[in-house]
Amino acid sequence: MNETRATTADTERLPEHVLKNRAHWDELASTYVASGERHWKDPNPTWGIWSVPESEVGMLPDDLAGKDVIELGCGTAYFSAWLARRGARPVGIDQSPEQLATARAMQDEHDLQFPLIEGHAEAVPLPDASFDFALSEYGASLWCDPDRWIAEAARLLRPGGRLVFLTNSPLLVLCSAPDSLVATDRLARAQFGLRRVEWDDEEGHSIEFHLAHGEMLRVLRANGFEVEALHELQAPADASSRFEFVTLEWARQWPCEEIWVARRE
Ligand SMILES: C[S@@+](CC[C@H](N)C(=O)[O-])C[C@H]1O[C@@H](n2cnc3c(N)ncnc32)[C@H](O)[C@@H]1O
Repeated sequence: MNETRATTADTERLPEHVLKNRAHWDELASTYVASGERHWKDPNPTWGIWSVPESEVGMLPDDLAGKDVIELGCGTAYFSAWLARRGARPVGIDQSPEQLATARAMQDEHDLQFPLIEGHAEAVPLPDASFDFALSEYGASLWCDPDRWIAEAARLLRPGGRLVFLTNSPLLVLCSAPDSLVATDRLARAQFGLRRVEWDDEEGHSIEFHLAHGEMLRVLRANGFEVEALHELQAPADASSRFEFVTLEWARQWPCEEIWVARRE
């Protein structure tokens, strides 16, 4: 599979959140190089900002060998690299040329090549039913419209294929006021109507999507997914993170991240 780029005409049709988030990620990319390098070097998959080991949560299928995998919003593509080392055939898609530049540099350094597509995860330029497994770790799962990217994951998966994604818990967002840089122990937003969340802070302007659990279940089922697991992650006692939006003390008491596992009917 060759590398693909979105055309100018495609770009003109892109929704506001895509354009804003692409600019945001191109700007942030240089601050994600070191963590990309660290993750690529680590032989063991971990999840999220507290690096919870996959060996403890068991969210990945055992039988990845020979499986076609799409990572939606792959960033520096370390997760695809972990899956490739387990025998899968990953394809990563990301809309940020700068993040993909890091991913390509890592591929060269580790001599591990797989296709990387510059494009938008709500409209992937690949045929229906071409993957067995779809993954997103803080990619499309956070930055894309759930109705659109989950429908796209359903289109891309073969019947029986699995979608696994990590995103922030709705509880974290409910405890994070629009003008606050760190989650508190108080509800700071309404849950009803929770969906598109705009941030305008020292990290820049970005648009995320968050759904309460009932809404997420509705979207997954409406797109032909059966939910197999929802794993709410607790930060390990000795964990550390370079991110400031949530403290370890908070993430020891409440889940700040969650992993959904869903099967395409
Ligand atoms: C935190 S990174 C997640 C990827 C990976 N786990 C990592 O940490 O490098 C978020 C990625 O989502 C990508 N992204 C955001 N919106 C996207 C969209 N509409 N289509 C494709 N990728 C998108 C960003 O460009 C960014 O590289």
